Amino acid sequence: MNSKPILVSGIKPTGYLHIGNYFGAIRQQVALAKEKYRPFIFVADYHALNFVQDAEKMRTYIRELVMAYLASGLDPQEITLFKQSEVPAHTELCWIFDTITTMPYLQRAHAYKDAEAKNKEIGVGSFNYPLLMAADILLYDASVVPVGQDQKQHIEYARDAAEKFNRIYKEDLFKLPEAYIPEEVAIVPGTDGRKMSKSYKNTIPLFADREEITKCVMGIVTDSSSGHPENVYAIHKLVRSSDDLDALYKENVGNYKHLKELLIDDIDQYFAPLRKKYKEIKNNPHIVDTVLKEGRDKARAISEAKMERVRQIIGVA
Ligand code: ADP
Ligand code: TRP
Repeated sequence: MNSKPILVSGIKPTGYLHIGNYFGAIRQQVALAKEKYRPFIFVADYHALNFVQDAEKMRTYIRELVMAYLASGLDPQEITLFKQSEVPAHTELCWIFDTITTMPYLQRAHAYKDAEAKNKEIGVGSFNYPLLMAADILLYDASVVPVGQDQKQHIEYARDAAEKFNRIYKEDLFKLPEAYIPEEVAIVPGTDGRKMSKSYKNTIPLFADREEITKCVMGIVTDSSSGHPENVYAIHKLVRSSDDLDALYKENVGNYKHLKELLIDDIDQYFAPLRKKYKEIKNNPHIVDTVLKEGRDKARAISEAKMERVRQIIGVA
């Protein structure tokens, strides 16, 4: 029996990955997975369905995400990597949480409030997003959930769902998870200085080739009022030590073009091993299928055992 504490995390397959996803989420997940945790990492495709309603795109983004995880160093032998949609316990437990949750409580979620502020009608799936996420996490008894800053509230929802279930049914069934959000990469800036996000079109794609990196970096918005290009530096420090950079930026004060060229080299070099692995996997697509199938079987067994307990506790079994 494996007694290591459990790590659970997932990412929605809603597009091609960028270096903000890597530094903000994937890198931590991979590092922690290698350390002291037993990791369950999944492709949150049912969450993504709120945003991607095109089968071809969905399939592509799912595979891209799995390839990104594998290329970033997740070892399929060491972890359970699976698709959320292939493990029915996630939606099932979500439904059970629905029955103990009130509408006003979900109306406090950031996503709901944002939609309301913009006078948009929120979909039922998006409204319920926090409870599906709570189910994702609680099914596996997660101790730690590495995510970006924007997900902090969702972890609170998961803790609340666990507490409420345990309280109503007077059982100590669900473990309260902790978010893991490293300060320095909580928000990776994009090429325009705002949070890097595919919705802002300010990203540097994770598997960009040299030409694409060059295009993105040359497009970084620089503020010419000081000799120090903040936006270039902020991205640069992700791929090179700040001691090195301070010297370089002093030597090249005001020479933005050269600093950007250095950044292109550094990004190119930093991600070269990942790109190589990504290409290998892309040329052997069965790797993705095998990993997902093995992950699915492991996740199904564990989550189904938990659901059996849940069904007994609520009295349907
Ligand atoms: P996007 O904003 O591009 O749509 P997602 O919302 O799909 O990205 O994010 C996937 C994961 O990557 C989440 O865990 C999120 O917190 C993290 N993430 C995304 N963008 C950033 C960023 N700029 N800085 C830090 N983490 C990020
Ligand atoms: N909501 C997360 C995101 O936008 C994805 C996600 C779904 C997740 N379920 C999760 C993350 C459970 C951690 C744990 O990226």
